[in-house]
Amino acid sequence: MGVTDVAIRGLLERERELGRIDAALEAARGGRGAAVVIEADAGLGKSALMRAAAARAHETAVAVLAAHGTELETELPFGVVRQCLAGVVRKSADREELLTGAAALAVPVLVDAPAEGDGGSFGVLHGLYWLLANLAERGPLLLAIDDAHWADEPSLRFLAFLTRRVDSLPLVLLTATRPVEPDAADPSVLSDLLGDPATDVVTIRALSEPAVLEFLREHAGATVEVAFARACHLPAGAIRSC
Ligand SMILES: Nc1ncnc2c1ncn2[C@@H]1O[C@H](COP(=O)(O)OP(=O)(O)OP(=O)(O)O)[C@@H](O)[C@H]1O
Ligand SMILES: [Mg+2]
Repeated sequence: MGVTDVAIRGLLERERELGRIDAALEAARGGRGAAVVIEADAGLGKSALMRAAAARAHETAVAVLAAHGTELETELPFGVVRQCLAGVVRKSADREELLTGAAALAVPVLVDAPAEGDGGSFGVLHGLYWLLANLAERGPLLLAIDDAHWADEPSLRFLAFLTRRVDSLPLVLLTATRPVEPDAADPSVLSDLLGDPATDVVTIRALSEPAVLEFLREHAGATVEVAFARACHLPAGAIRSC
């Protein structure tokens, strides 16, 4: 069984969400990029959907660059961006070519040690954008950022910057996050990203009761009773709670 089958097989009731991601990938292959955010509470299946999206991308010759926010690294400037891009730059045989022109402005955050208090000047954001544009010239890309609620702020600022320009690149920016509480006093960059008119926000619904039963029978055996599945189908719908 291939990677694609493993990631997508067993994913219940996510046809609508995968359809939106497929549409974005198709548009990107045609040169018109898109930004999609998967938003849902803990355990509802964001990472599972991200894996399925990456599998779909591989299937359709879209290269995947992935990273995820981590609770311990929220203070590390550009940590998420570096996770995504530093490796590809380091391993690239034509590294000089990738970092030519405006992309050279990304060197301070990708190659050098991250500077304290580097919140992301326009030059750096512009450089990162051009680096991605150079990479995307080789073929369409999926930039997949999971757990964005733990991403460092400069990286989120770059994702917001990219969102506003993504339609001119063959690239899908796919971000997954737990819901962000809108706070008028201190609006976060993540709220900006979610509120950007260019962002397609995909909200994941909890699995239905029959899907919970199917999930349990698949993982715990065919003898699982309907009443047990019903008890597991909590209002929040989190599979982990079962
Ligand atoms: N649609 C689905 N069908 C079947 N199983 C699913 C589905 N979505 C998620 N799962 C399973 O439920 C569990 C939790 O999903 P996942 O880790 O993707 O949640 P999450 O939203 O990423 O949670 P967190 O916010 O903690 O990162 C995993 O074991 C995953 O494989
Ligand atoms: Mg997750």
